[in-house]
Amino acid sequence: LPGLLIAPSILTADFARLGEEISDVVAADADWIHLDVIDGHFAPNITFGPAIIKSLRKITKKPFDTHLMIAPADPFLAAFAEAGADHITVHAEAGPHLHRTLQTIRGLGKKAGVSLNPATSERALDYVLDEVDLVLVMSVNPGFGGQSFIPGQLEKIRRVREMIGRRPIHLQVDGGVSPKTIAAVVEAGADVVVAGSAVFDGGGRESYRKNIAALRSA
Ligand code: DX5
Ligand code: ZN
Repeated sequence: LPGLLIAPSILTADFARLGEEISDVVAADADWIHLDVIDGHFAPNITFGPAIIKSLRKITKKPFDTHLMIAPADPFLAAFAEAGADHITVHAEAGPHLHRTLQTIRGLGKKAGVSLNPATSERALDYVLDEVDLVLVMSVNPGFGGQSFIPGQLEKIRRVREMIGRRPIHLQVDGGVSPKTIAAVVEAGADVVVAGSAVFDGGGRESYRKNIAALRSA
């Protein structure tokens, strides 16, 4: 689909060869690199932080789309910005001062994103949309790759698309996106999809190229 952006999530990549994995998805026509930062407190897994992002920064100039599943997020925003994150997405549920957090991200010169857990209403966006460059609708519970898409989130995607109206805000969907689910996600209004297991399946840039092409043509 022309105009659709694909953001491979490295959560299901081989962490022992992270740099090569990123060059391989870049060569396979990825648009953004989606970096899942999880703290074992906000969501039940532990991944990586700014130091790893900083060393990956030399691999590619593609946007680093940084999805923070951490709470609190505020004390770490500057570190992620300095490490080379281009988009910094925080969860609406991660703290009491979402508006301030978004202002801080923009103040650091980065694109500000808000993510909504499956149980969170799109109404959480009501008073922050003017501070936002990206909305991320989670279609699985945050923490792990390889989970199944939650179909009830399609309605939320439609509602968020309507709320965005003419604003220049990306609508991103993350979790369980595959050739089977992507058409419904895009039809509901997403313009960026995150895909972990559907991209990293098989291993190596030839598989990644096939997998990304399968997503685009589904
Ligand atoms: C889940 C992460 C996702 C996840 C997507 O906490 O935010 O980015 O890695 O993986 P798949 O595409 O396998 O559901
Ligand atoms: Zn993610």
